[in-house]
Amino acid sequence: MKKLIALTALAYSVVGLAAPKAQWLTVDNEVLAKIRPKLNKSVQTLYSAQGATVVQLSQAEVEQLSAVIHDELHRCGGFMAHDSFEEAQTALSQQGEMYFAKQAVFADYELNQAKTVEPMVAQVQEASIRDMILKLSEFNTRYYKSETGVKSSEYIRDTWAALAKHRTDVKVELYKHKNWPQASIIMTIPGTELADEIVIVGGHADSIAGMFGGSGRAPGADDNASGIATITEVIKIVMANNFKPKRTVQFMGYAAEEVGLLGSKDIANQFKAEGKKVVGVMQLDMTLNKGTADKDIVMMSDFTNAAQNEFLGKLIDQYVKVSWGYSRCGYGCSDHASWTAAGYPASMPFESTMGDINKHIHTKNDTLQNAGGDAKHSAKFAKLATAFVVELAN
Ligand code: BES
Ligand code: ZN
Repeated sequence: MKKLIALTALAYSVVGLAAPKAQWLTVDNEVLAKIRPKLNKSVQTLYSAQGATVVQLSQAEVEQLSAVIHDELHRCGGFMAHDSFEEAQTALSQQGEMYFAKQAVFADYELNQAKTVEPMVAQVQEASIRDMILKLSEFNTRYYKSETGVKSSEYIRDTWAALAKHRTDVKVELYKHKNWPQASIIMTIPGTELADEIVIVGGHADSIAGMFGGSGRAPGADDNASGIATITEVIKIVMANNFKPKRTVQFMGYAAEEVGLLGSKDIANQFKAEGKKVVGVMQLDMTLNKGTADKDIVMMSDFTNAAQNEFLGKLIDQYVKVSWGYSRCGYGCSDHASWTAAGYPASMPFESTMGDINKHIHTKNDTLQNAGGDAKHSAKFAKLATAFVVELAN
């Protein structure tokens, strides 16, 4: 049985359970390199693979490690505990590169920002989300190679920049890609205290319809004008409230998702290459169509971080107060998979279960009218994303 070590250490110290003698940990190599000199005794490498190392520590040393990670790296996790060396080794080799991205605990998920979150959540407006969905749907297509696809990204950039015009510290930029004309969009609110730790909310800006994508009508109202409009609503609210987060917050509109997650792959891989610290990523792709009767928000459990997904569940219970559950895409179905593949913790709260998906996506009929005619469902996701940004970045 695998255990998340931060929680385990806490349980032993708070509840006073009898601690086991030793534990085999799988520790992220970068974390290990930084903390090795700070530990009481030098730890021996037992096995190394997938950017992580298996070490054996006593419970006391595990607690020391946990404290050092907190104090030195200002984060939780970066390692996991196992009951045997074999289990640790198997975990590393089986789960491959995405092992830590899915299983490690990357942040302190305590909810303590209610005074800031509650008034902001109350400001979410269905009408302004609906308006942005309609504006984006008016572009003939947002296909990544089309002229209107290029224009639609510039429109998103301009819309976000206008919402931030009173803030000289906030940047809104196009992120240009080498191999196709449509740019991604990145808005940055620099952190006031922990600027190198980044919280990201993103969604794809492109659309597609038909087998060859091209020039045909592709309104992409649900997929994914709704995600971009949801993010735009969060931006509107954080800017209207002059929000200055402790951690850096970035909002992203990704180009070329519909043709293989290309835009987000470029960005996530660059972040990884530059060693950027991303504390959490939320992907908003399709928030408009309420397809499942008994579940409002459905978290995709594959290609996502388990602990962060649980955190989202708590945010929904406390701030959105709607029903939620889990489903699976079964494949890397959106940009969260690019972040997971790059080793970062990502979640994808989705509009329905996989079994109840909107049948109109990727056709000329992906319109607001065919997804219920209003943006009430998207408003729930705007509340969740607002809570995510404030709780994780502060
Ligand atoms: N929004 C969809 C993903 C999606 C569709 C998730 C239905 C859940 C249910 C996304 O824009 C998309 O179409 N993704 C591609 C995969 C990508 C790797 C090209 C897909 O699902 O075919
Ligand atoms: Zn799609």
